[in-house]
Amino acid sequence: MKPEEFARRRQQLMRMVGPDGIAILPSAPVRMRSRDVEYRYRQDSDFYYLTGFAEPESVAVLAPGRSNGEYLLFCRERDPDRERWDGSRVGPDGVVNDYGADDAFPIDDIDDILPGVIESCTRVYYTMGMYSDFDTRIAEWINSLRSGESRGVHTPQEFVALDHLLHDMRLYKSRAEISAMRRSAKVAVKAHERAMRMIRPGLFEYEVEAEFRHEFRRNDALVSYSPIVGSGPNACTLHYVDNRRILEDGDLLLIDAGCELDYYASDITRTLPVSGKFSAEQRAVYEVVLAAQLAAIDKVRKGNHWNDPHDAAVKVIAEGIKDIGLIESAVPVEIETGAYHDFFMHRTGHWLGMDVHDVGDYKVGEQWRLLEAGMAMTVEPGIYISDRPTVPERFRNIGVRIEDDVLVTANGPDVLSKGLVKEPDAIEALMQGE
Ligand code: GLY
Ligand code: MN
Ligand code: MN
Repeated sequence: MKPEEFARRRQQLMRMVGPDGIAILPSAPVRMRSRDVEYRYRQDSDFYYLTGFAEPESVAVLAPGRSNGEYLLFCRERDPDRERWDGSRVGPDGVVNDYGADDAFPIDDIDDILPGVIESCTRVYYTMGMYSDFDTRIAEWINSLRSGESRGVHTPQEFVALDHLLHDMRLYKSRAEISAMRRSAKVAVKAHERAMRMIRPGLFEYEVEAEFRHEFRRNDALVSYSPIVGSGPNACTLHYVDNRRILEDGDLLLIDAGCELDYYASDITRTLPVSGKFSAEQRAVYEVVLAAQLAAIDKVRKGNHWNDPHDAAVKVIAEGIKDIGLIESAVPVEIETGAYHDFFMHRTGHWLGMDVHDVGDYKVGEQWRLLEAGMAMTVEPGIYISDRPTVPERFRNIGVRIEDDVLVTANGPDVLSKGLVKEPDAIEALMQGE
């Protein structure tokens, strides 16, 4: 992402914050995995969206109209000893030269500098409740100003939820973001194809997971969530991530795996026959899910409501499970009572962007949000028939989900993950090396 993209975002936010406001954003904290071993660091999405700066222990401040600089960045100082252990740091000079900051300070000086900047503002834009340690520091800085009120020190009059502004900005993807999302989807598509070619009975689910991790890393990407590789009964467990079962002939295998590339996520699911050929029952269920997904994607259009794709998917699934004999009740009743929930218990999608479950409101007041060009979402209906006596035996342990990443455009839905096969015949052909 080019520096101008981050500068444009800061300008857009600063126009909303206004000259008497200040926005404060902390970087994500470092988290411990086990004893003194850290998780791989991942910058906070809001912080990165505005700064492009990936180091921990940083604080970004936007103070529009401040004469000595509107964009301040607090960061770690250069430290050759520490850098020898932990890798290089950009340092305050570097963030001015390379990251567009107007002014930069060592993070250790923030208590001495930031309260004075806050004092000259009447409104503070901050996302409360994300990082409780930083919430406490904000409270301490405000209290330090309050304690000076008798000496004429000002305290801000208003606190505003920064996430409302920022998350609405993040919902509308720019050209640069769309291109990053396309690249992320492309890497995930390649990884799914690679897995499809190697799947056979006798492999462990984790061996399939390994193909994804390998393909992601060789493209400078990481997983955007723990891959779900669920075979047989595991395909019916929505958040299955153990990935330790042996694939058996006759199983379906549900793979939900996507990557994060340049801070943008992809999220793709395909369901495959381990033998390379769907059974009649598996194919019947699969075709219902595919029809539901295509009907839902067709509703990803400017001017439709957020819920229209879901409603379309529910209708096709309710009709489909009746046609193949899984339910007996009339379809309108099935939809009204929510009885289809036994087989399709999640929503049809979510916003997609820097976070896999991306930010942005789904409703405006009581109304589902209208879709607009630049919004990106997943479309991922499924049917899950767990092992239970109320369904015919031949349908038990069939779990199918099909998930693609879809962008709303002025000309209809644009499926970012469209390169990946999903027609049952095409899946069989690819798995059989054709
Ligand atoms: N992989 C997470 C999801 O599909 O929402
Ligand atoms: Mn998914
Ligand atoms: Mn998803």
